[in-house]
Amino acid sequence: MDLQIPIINMVLSLSGAIDLIDRSLTNHHKRVTYIAFSIAKQLNFSDRELKDIVLASLLHDCGAVNVSERNSLFEFDYGNSSIQRHSHGYKGWFILSDSEELKAAAEIIKFHHVFWEEQDEGYLHTDEIPIASHVLHLADRIDILINRNKEILDQRKFILNQVERCKGTMFMPEVVEAFEALAPKPYFWFDIVNPYIDELIKNEMSSYLVTLNNKNLLEFANVAHRIIDFRSKFTATHSIGVATSASSLASKLGFSKEDCELMHCAGLMHDLGKLAISERILEKPGPLDKHEYNIIKTHTYHTYRIIDSIPGLGKVRNWAAFHHEKLDGSGYPFRLKADELDLGSRILAISDMFTALTEERPYRRALSVNAAIDIIMNTKGLDPDVKDCLYKNLEEINEIRRVSQENIFLSCHEVLNSQYDFAYSQLKLSGQIK
Ligand SMILES: [Fe+2]
Ligand SMILES: [Fe+2]
Ligand SMILES: [Fe+2]
Repeated sequence: MDLQIPIINMVLSLSGAIDLIDRSLTNHHKRVTYIAFSIAKQLNFSDRELKDIVLASLLHDCGAVNVSERNSLFEFDYGNSSIQRHSHGYKGWFILSDSEELKAAAEIIKFHHVFWEEQDEGYLHTDEIPIASHVLHLADRIDILINRNKEILDQRKFILNQVERCKGTMFMPEVVEAFEALAPKPYFWFDIVNPYIDELIKNEMSSYLVTLNNKNLLEFANVAHRIIDFRSKFTATHSIGVATSASSLASKLGFSKEDCELMHCAGLMHDLGKLAISERILEKPGPLDKHEYNIIKTHTYHTYRIIDSIPGLGKVRNWAAFHHEKLDGSGYPFRLKADELDLGSRILAISDMFTALTEERPYRRALSVNAAIDIIMNTKGLDPDVKDCLYKNLEEINEIRRVSQENIFLSCHEVLNSQYDFAYSQLKLSGQIK
């Protein structure tokens, strides 16, 4: 499957997924991208640097996965929340840092809220903050100042004044000067709020291709799973558990090595659409009412749409998004029937259920493996051969699932769920920050 696709397609789909977390911020990532790109161009960034600042801007708040974390970022000067300000940059960096394609973007994101006057402070433990981080910071603050209910040109003077007031304190002077050169041009402001902003970004970036092979897809899926799972302590390791049980079931059922890898990726991404569901519902300590359940049903719809925007991923999209469909047509969101559900989708449905039952939930304790398999064997609408395969290999598959979840918990979860200082000391201890 060595397809060449524009990397922007993959990153835009993730960026759209992150924007689902908070509808009041819809398109924040895209507007910030356009502003940062324009300032970077004004500063004569090279092609490579332009590409990296676009990728960084599109994902810059991926570490602010909770609405509460995001709220403190709405104030132009952040109030008193310097911990939140720094910690989500670190979290974002951590989420992206294992991806070869996004490594440079991760470095930009790490410091995207550092004030110009702060950059020599010892606690940041760094010699140099990339200029791109200062560009991203200013672009982000400009977008926060924009009132989307008012005419954009009417706001130009106010925004310029606010930014100039912080020149040399919050913002790097040269970066402000680049913005000052752009500000008199009306088209710059019209572009920021125009409804075709997706196209604008795609056009600028269409020449940067990425090979869509299993390795790159896995790196992408890992980023997706970190964003999803670090949102709620109850599902912190869920995706990896689903990925490993689904790929071992697939291998037992005769899938090729390549398809087992794709199944692993589908498992990592199956709950991407949960970014659209509020934490209040995800963490409700009791049964859901009808209205809440209707909202829950949207998550696999969003998973489908998000993956669908990346060309060449039809198989992974279906496996990931059909995990709540049932063979008798009673599932959601497509009400597919047996003849429309291939073996991969059936495997993922059972792996999701098995992993979920063995995990703690806000409304119940984790079930034993035996209790979980009993429930699965007695659930209608699931594939009998896949059920049988899980039953016969229960101990082995459960062990693979358990170990993978434990490893992920140890390697990332504690770091990402902590505040800045703790996160920082852990990253330093683990050698990930020099
Ligand atoms: Fe941010
Ligand atoms: Fe932001
Ligand atoms: Fe689900």
